[in-house]
Amino acid sequence: MVKKTLSLTLNRIIQEAKADLLLGDIYLLLEHAIGRGKEFIYTYPMYSPTENELDRWEECRTRRLKGEPVSYITGWREFYSLDFKVDRFTLIPRQETELLVDQVLLRRPDSLLDIGTGCGNIAVSVRYHLNRCLVTAVDLSVKAVQMARYNANRLLGQHDIRFIKSNYFNELDKVEFDVIVSNPPYIKSSDIDRLPIEISSYEPRIALDGGSDGLMTYSKIIGDSQPYLSQAGKLILELDPELLGGVMTIAEEKNYTVENVVKDLGLNDRVIVLSP
Ligand SMILES: C[S@@+](CC[C@H](N)C(=O)[O-])C[C@H]1O[C@@H](n2cnc3c(N)ncnc32)[C@H](O)[C@@H]1O
Repeated sequence: MVKKTLSLTLNRIIQEAKADLLLGDIYLLLEHAIGRGKEFIYTYPMYSPTENELDRWEECRTRRLKGEPVSYITGWREFYSLDFKVDRFTLIPRQETELLVDQVLLRRPDSLLDIGTGCGNIAVSVRYHLNRCLVTAVDLSVKAVQMARYNANRLLGQHDIRFIKSNYFNELDKVEFDVIVSNPPYIKSSDIDRLPIEISSYEPRIALDGGSDGLMTYSKIIGDSQPYLSQAGKLILELDPELLGGVMTIAEEKNYTVENVVKDLGLNDRVIVLSP
C-alpha cells in the first residue's frame, strides 16, 4: 500500500503549514528538512519528499510550533550576508546588530576588541571585510567561544582572530584597541520571563540578562574600557532605546563623550559611539 504521505508535494505541505506558521519560517524549515535550497522548492513545487524528508519536516514543524526559534532548529542564521552556525549556547544574531558592524567598518580600525562575541558574528564580519584588522573577541561562555572560533574557521579559512574566554577584560593583556565593540546583555532581569517564548525559553540567559536595570554590563564595559582604548579610540555599543539616557549618564560619569547615536530601521536609538 502506498503511504498517503508519499503523495504530499512541497506545494501542498506549504499550503497546509501556512495555517499555523509564517511563510518565511516554512521555507527555511522545509529547506532544512529536504536538504535543498529555496530555488529547488520554487522550481519543483510538485516534488514529493521521501519518507525521511517528511519525518524531518514533521519534527521541524513540531519544534517550531512549540516555540523553538527557526535558527536553533536549522542551526544557521544569516548575518551581514554570511551564514553563521548557532546553537542554544549562542544568541541568535539580530538584524539591528549589523549596525554595529557598519559603525566599525566606517572607521576602518587597525585593531578591534569584541566583548561578548557570541557566535562571532560581529568579529568575523568585521574581519571578513577588513582583512588587516587585528581582531580579539571575548566571551564568558566557553561554548560561545568555541562556536565563534568554528564560524571564523569556516568563513575566513586562515585567520588570526584571537578568541578568548574572558569575563569582560579580565584575561586580556594590557593592549590598546582602536575600537571596542559590544552588543552586551541588556534586558532587565525581571523582564526576561515576559519576553516571547522564543527568547525567554530558548536563548541563553547569560546573553540576555543585563541585571536589575539593564545597565549592569554598560557600567562594567564603559567603566573598565579606558586602559584598552587608543587615544583616538571609539567604544561602540548596541543598546535598547529605553536605556539611552542611562548609558549616556554612565558615559558622562566615566568621562566619555558621546560622538554619535545611530538609529535602526525602525528609527529607534540603537547604537551609541563614545570617545574617551
Ligand atoms: C547579547 S549577546 C551578543 C552576542 C553577539 N555578539 C551578537 O551581537 O549577536 C551577549 C554576549 O555576551 C556574553 N557575556 C555575558 N556576560 C559576559 C561577561 N561578563 N564577559 C564576557 N562576555 C559576556 C554572552 O555569553 C553573550 O554571548
